[in-house]
Amino acid sequence: MFLKMNNLLFSLHLLLLASSLSSSLAKGGAFQSLLPSDFNDRINVSRARRLLDEVESRARVDLAQGYMTNSDLERVIKEFGQRCSNISRIYSIGKSVNGVPLWAIEISDKPGEEEPEPAFKYIGNVHGDEPVGRELLIYLANWLCHNYLKDPLATLIVENVHLHLLPSMNPDGFSLRKRGNANNIDLNRDFPDQFFFANNDEDSRQPETKAIMNWLRDIQFTASATLHGGALVANYPWDGTIDKRTYYYGCPDDDAFRFMASIYSHSHYNMSSSKEFIDGITNGAAWYPLYGGMQDWNYIHAGCFELTLEISDNKWPNAAELPILWKYNKMSMLNLVASLVKTGVHGRIYSSGDGRPLPGFITVSGINYTVRAGGTFADYHRLLAARDRYEVVATMPGYKSKNTSIWLDEGAMTLDFVLDPEVSIKGSVLQNVYDCNCDSKSKLEFVQFLWGSHFEVFFIFIVILGFLCLLFQRRKKVKQSTGAKRTVVV
Ligand SMILES: *[C@@H]1O[C@H](CO)[C@@H](O)[C@H](O)[C@H]1NC(C)=O
Ligand SMILES: *[C@@H]1O[C@H](CO)[C@@H](O)[C@H](O)[C@H]1NC(C)=O
Ligand SMILES: *[C@@H]1O[C@H](CO)[C@@H](O)[C@H](O)[C@H]1NC(C)=O
Ligand SMILES: *[C@@H]1O[C@H](CO)[C@@H](O)[C@H](O)[C@H]1NC(C)=O
Ligand SMILES: *[C@@H]1O[C@H](CO)[C@@H](O)[C@H](O)[C@H]1NC(C)=O
Ligand SMILES: [Zn+2]
Repeated sequence: MFLKMNNLLFSLHLLLLASSLSSSLAKGGAFQSLLPSDFNDRINVSRARRLLDEVESRARVDLAQGYMTNSDLERVIKEFGQRCSNISRIYSIGKSVNGVPLWAIEISDKPGEEEPEPAFKYIGNVHGDEPVGRELLIYLANWLCHNYLKDPLATLIVENVHLHLLPSMNPDGFSLRKRGNANNIDLNRDFPDQFFFANNDEDSRQPETKAIMNWLRDIQFTASATLHGGALVANYPWDGTIDKRTYYYGCPDDDAFRFMASIYSHSHYNMSSSKEFIDGITNGAAWYPLYGGMQDWNYIHAGCFELTLEISDNKWPNAAELPILWKYNKMSMLNLVASLVKTGVHGRIYSSGDGRPLPGFITVSGINYTVRAGGTFADYHRLLAARDRYEVVATMPGYKSKNTSIWLDEGAMTLDFVLDPEVSIKGSVLQNVYDCNCDSKSKLEFVQFLWGSHFEVFFIFIVILGFLCLLFQRRKKVKQSTGAKRTVVV
């Protein structure tokens, strides 16, 4: 009797332990430190281990109830693709270790087509034992499908953003009910890292990680977020520090990231009232440094501003709580995507010569980061926090760079650039004349006439033309900054 009672108490103790473990391993906490210091002294460890496994697996079987299995998820995604076919496209970005396709949904009024619009991605279930995100992304897709042309926010997103959803990056980990993939690798430690060079070995990279890296080569994402569980906070770069110590280590776009993270936490039911994290947001390295994470890699190598969102304290809550978790996160998820349209500086870069789009680069004075314009439309989308003054610079090899000072409030601004071809030393005179956006045909005849007459006369004309060009460009620059459109923040 006594023995039985003792066993029961012991199991209870383990259950408590198991639940505290599962809620504190969010970004990757240390397992050992959570065990009571006298744990080893009091019990037979190997028996305890076995019991712990039994208790955990029993708990997990129960927990999985009400969650989609991997085949459920595949079926649901394909059904969605049919039900919502005119604003979505279903595709796979690769396969897991065990050969499960990594299904993605693109939501847009022109899915699969290139447009001068920003793209956003949400990735769920990076850690196999954090399944809330994979469920919420299906809620999100369905909500957008139901509300397109009914709700202004849904319509804005569908018509102005290409939204890509990858509900599960780690289906194998999910079916095994564990954090890592089938090879037991933590996928959020498997990316190339700016400080931890051991991760640079291409051959040892997991198929799920490779799939994400190839995806980002295909599609230029402006921003993204991955959904995790085990805490309630919006985490932003950097995640790692150079010396592996824990302190605030901001990236060049710290202001923009804090702004983005705040959009999520402030739109959430109660993330911003966190007692642990001021305003419900945190710099990754200030929380705890990690290496090989997906977030920092996105910002450094893919031009994509990525957040790591911890969306529920409980990693694997009872499925009955999913509708309420959707309710808590819904506006955050929508507003974060919509912020790509409602905030920041957007525009296109053109050549003054023939008006063709130039896939150039956008930098902002004082921020050591370059945003690439799209290859086809030369559209750029530069996320920035509101500020009195930014100097935005557009560059393109072979063209003279141009800069404009802007004042940015919380609304978005449209700012196009028209770049003039670089003047080569030979024939510079002629090219300069062409750069002027006057009537080019008559100009050509005029120049030809001049070549035939006295050179002094020609020179005087060039000086006058040069002066006119200067005036014209000044006017154009003023037009650029005042002609900006600001969208209303809802
Ligand atoms: C611990 O338990 C295992 C399995 O029940 C048993 O084989 C082993 O002898 C025990 N060790 C000690 C030190 O009691
Ligand atoms: C999608 O279909 C609905 C209903 O037929 C239609 O109203 C809507 O215009 C379509 N949207 C697009 C982007 O084609
Ligand atoms: C948010 O609300 C949930 C549900 O009421 C609660 O469990 C959680 O502790 C709250 N978190 C914060 C940070 O207030
Ligand atoms: C800007 O960032 C790059 C890495 O992207 C770095 O190599 C360079 O030293 C930085 N420049 C300054 C002035 O901080
Ligand atoms: C911006 O343009 C002005 C003159 O047009 C130039 O003096 C300045 O260096 C430029 N700034 C940058 C960052 O290119
Ligand atoms: Zn996680």
